[in-house]
Parts: sequence; C-alpha cells; structure tokens
Amino acid sequence: MTALLTVAGVSKRFGRVEALTGLTLSVAPGERVALLGHNGAGKTTLLRLILGFLRPDAGSIRVGDHAPDSTAARRAVAYLPENVAFPKALTGRELIGFYARLRDVSTDDAMAALERVGLAHAADRASGTYSKGMRQRLGLAQALLGSPRLMLLDEPTSGLDPLSRHDFYALVDVVAAAGTAVLLSSHSLSEIEARTDRVAILREGRLVADAPLSRLQAEAALPVRIRVRAQPETIDDVSDRLGGTRVNGQTVELIFSQTEKMRRLAAISALGPLVTDFDVTQPSLDDIYVHFSRAAGEGGAS
Ligand SMILES: Nc1ncnc2c1ncn2[C@@H]1O[C@H](COP(=O)(O)OP(=O)(O)OP(=O)(O)O)[C@@H](O)[C@H]1O
Ligand SMILES: [Mg+2]
Repeated sequence: MTALLTVAGVSKRFGRVEALTGLTLSVAPGERVALLGHNGAGKTTLLRLILGFLRPDAGSIRVGDHAPDSTAARRAVAYLPENVAFPKALTGRELIGFYARLRDVSTDDAMAALERVGLAHAADRASGTYSKGMRQRLGLAQALLGSPRLMLLDEPTSGLDPLSRHDFYALVDVVAAAGTAVLLSSHSLSEIEARTDRVAILREGRLVADAPLSRLQAEAALPVRIRVRAQPETIDDVSDRLGGTRVNGQTVELIFSQTEKMRRLAAISALGPLVTDFDVTQPSLDDIYVHFSRAAGEGGAS
C-alpha cells in the first residue's frame, strides 16, 4: 500500500547535537507504528519535522503527496504533544469547542469526540480538576477532531494506569481500523503492550530497528531462564545433573538459548520427583528494547 507518511534520509542538527541522522521510515494508512527510544533519542524532533514545525537539514518528508508545511498536510495530520497542558479554568466542552473551531469541525462532532474518549460526563468540569488520564483523553479527543489521516501521538500513554492504557489502545485500534495511520512514541516497549503493527527503535537519532514485534523478538534471540526447585536434601543432586547456578538452598537457575528449550525441559522432566517445581521466564519486552537500543552502539552485546 502507498505510504501515507514517507520520511527519507532525514537529518536534523541543533548546533552540535545531531538529533536525527539519515532517518528513513514510512507509515501506511491504517498502520500503527511505535517509535521507541530513550530520552533525547530524537522522537519529538521527528514528530515536529513531520508537522512542519522544523525543517530537515537533509532528506525529505511527505505526508501523502504533500510537503509537511502545506495546508493539505496540516489538514491531514493530528498531533497530541508530549506533556499536553490545557488552561485549567476552561471546561472540557469549552476546550474541545475551541479546538473544533480551529479545525473547522462542528460543535456536534466535537462533543462526539469527547464521548469517544469517555469524557462526556466531565464535559462541564474545569479541566484543572481532571486526572492525568482524563487530560490525556482530552488531548486524544482533540487529536480525533476532523478525522485525520495521520495521527502523531508523543508519549500518549506515559503515566497512565494499565486500564487507561488499555482503553487508549482500544481507541487507537478503532481509529487505525478506519484507515488512519498512527505514529506514537514511547520510552518503553512494554508500555505499547504489543498493540502496534511495527516497532521503530531510535538510538541517538539513528533508526536501529524497524519491524513487527514478533520479528524483533526472533532477531534478538534473547536467552530463556528456567528456575528449578528441589528439596534442600536433593538440590545438590539436581544441580549436578542439570548444571546451572545455585540461586539459594532449593533453586537452580539455568540460562540458555531459545533453541535449547525443549531439550532442557526434557532433562528436567527426566529428573521426576527430584524436582518439586519450575518456572520459565521468557525475555520481557523491555529486555528486547534494551537489546536493540544497545546493540547498535556496542557491537551486538545483549
Ligand atoms: N530546539 C532544540 N534546540 C536544541 N537542541 C534540541 C532542540 N530540540 C531537541 N534538541 C536536542 O535534540 C535531541 C533529541 O531531542 P528530542 O526531544 O527529539 O528527543 P526525544 O526522543 O523526544 O526525548 P524524550 O524521550 O526525552 O522526549 C536531544 O539531544 C535534544 O536536546
Ligand atoms: Mg520527546
């Protein structure tokens, strides 16, 4: 499918800081792409370039067929900034009405956006009384106005509780299913809850990964950990037979590659009643993120 957003070889420098270097990335209609990176990796800079607030030093950005600072691109793109803040004295209804007028959207559609994010009940309360999650949802309602074709969401779920995060992604799913391309930034792979189609990882302004999560998981090939428990009087025997490291008086820890998993499990099960219990820990999403954000600069160390 033709990309709705095309970023080709983009570099951006602020004085001595090379915020982005040769970045190439595209997002298709209906696709949800997570942009991950540590503080200062260049996520916000990329979003501001796509919005036309900044100009690249090299490379090009297109929103559909349009330049980022064109009227057509501005109409197509919605933005939820990092740390969104609203005038505290204004109510949700007043604020969404204000944004609706800016975007040429009717008052009815503005109220519908508040309803979609579950804020209709608080429409007449001053936004200063909203919780962080409610403010974030108000920000999202503002971004939904006018059916944008591309949504740029800068750390939309940071600081949200798991339920609010879940609700947030459910909304993103609906928006993407209707054909909107979504690019959202985050610090944490676990925070995106595997609810995106692709993950792009930025490290010091360079793209170090751009693939579906399942492929990143396979490429990282991080080790599996199994902890085996036995009675204090049999733990030495278990440890001798399985190898691994003694963690305490009744636990042995084994760390090995994914491909060895079945063979190791068979060896454990062959010990029969010598083993009282075991648990398997797969690499976490954050382990995978750390792997990629380190691997590029540290010779593939994991
Ligand atoms: N207007 C600016 N002037 C000077 N330096 C800037 C400017 N904007 C960004 N930078 C620098 O560019 C780099 C990338 O910053 P950016 O805000 O894009 O990172 P980020 O990935 O969004 O980080 P965070 O997770 O902390 O929000 C940083 O070193 C930052 O200090
Ligand atoms: Mg940022």
